Amino acid sequence: MSISVHDVHWSAGGAMIVDGISIEVAPGSTLGLLGPNGSGKSSLLRLICRLRNVKSGVVSLGNTDIAAMSRLDIARRVAFVEQQATTDAQVTVLDVVRLGRTPHRGPLSPWGVADDAAVYAALCHVGMPGRAGQLWHTLSGGERQRVHIARALAQTPSELLLDEPTNHLDIQHQLEILGLVARLPVTSIVALHDLNLAAMFCDSLAVLHRGKVVAAGAPEDILTERLIAEVFGVRAHIERSAYHGRCHVQYRTL
Ligand SMILES: Nc1ncnc2c1ncn2[C@@H]1O[C@H](COP(=O)(O)OP(=O)(O)OP(=O)(O)O)[C@@H](O)[C@H]1O
Ligand SMILES: [Mg+2]
Repeated sequence: MSISVHDVHWSAGGAMIVDGISIEVAPGSTLGLLGPNGSGKSSLLRLICRLRNVKSGVVSLGNTDIAAMSRLDIARRVAFVEQQATTDAQVTVLDVVRLGRTPHRGPLSPWGVADDAAVYAALCHVGMPGRAGQLWHTLSGGERQRVHIARALAQTPSELLLDEPTNHLDIQHQLEILGLVARLPVTSIVALHDLNLAAMFCDSLAVLHRGKVVAAGAPEDILTERLIAEVFGVRAHIERSAYHGRCHVQYRTL
């Protein structure tokens, strides 16, 4: 497995936030992380890139326990776009995306052709190659989100963690970003609230509820009327889409 989480616990403020979670993500595949507000999605993503340390359990990248990896080793292979990523207002789009190259450069290694190529490719992937010189604070919310995703792609990660990456994006860019993530030869975990986008673009899903995984597997096996009622408290009708063959959730009014 590319990302392996085994019986991980993490507590904060006297409460068990991540309560014995185990998930496996195969190399190159995309796992959608679903669950209501406060179910532990962002906390789990932070544990996977060791922004937080597990209380117990093991997170492995490849076959290596991340507890045994240096911060630099982790940064060279895992890119993380946080839910509410912030950036200093005085920088340009290019400055932000260039930050993605930091883990690959030593104190004495000059900026190289490979760094330029990775930054340009990342800007192209998010449809912003013409915006390199624009100041961060002049960008729209969706453009900022795309620049943060470009920064993560410039890192050329083998594992990519995205926390609600479609927040603020118009529908065209939601489809483009998730299509891109699904096509990239990178192992990805994407926290999402939109069940239909998750079904369309993810190879597998894990549903969190109160810090535990309550369902995991292929989207068509996971997204059932019963699960949606139990976990999200919403009545829904599920069909298979004639367009893309994946399951499609239609919500009933409360
Ligand atoms: N450092 C902390 N101290 C205390 N409580 C915390 C801390 N970090 C997270 N929590 C709590 O843990 C729970 C899970 O938070 P988390 O951000 O992981 O949820 P989430 O599934 O990402 O939710 P959302 O969909 O709203 O982003 C929440 O109830 C949150 O208040
Ligand atoms: Mg969150």
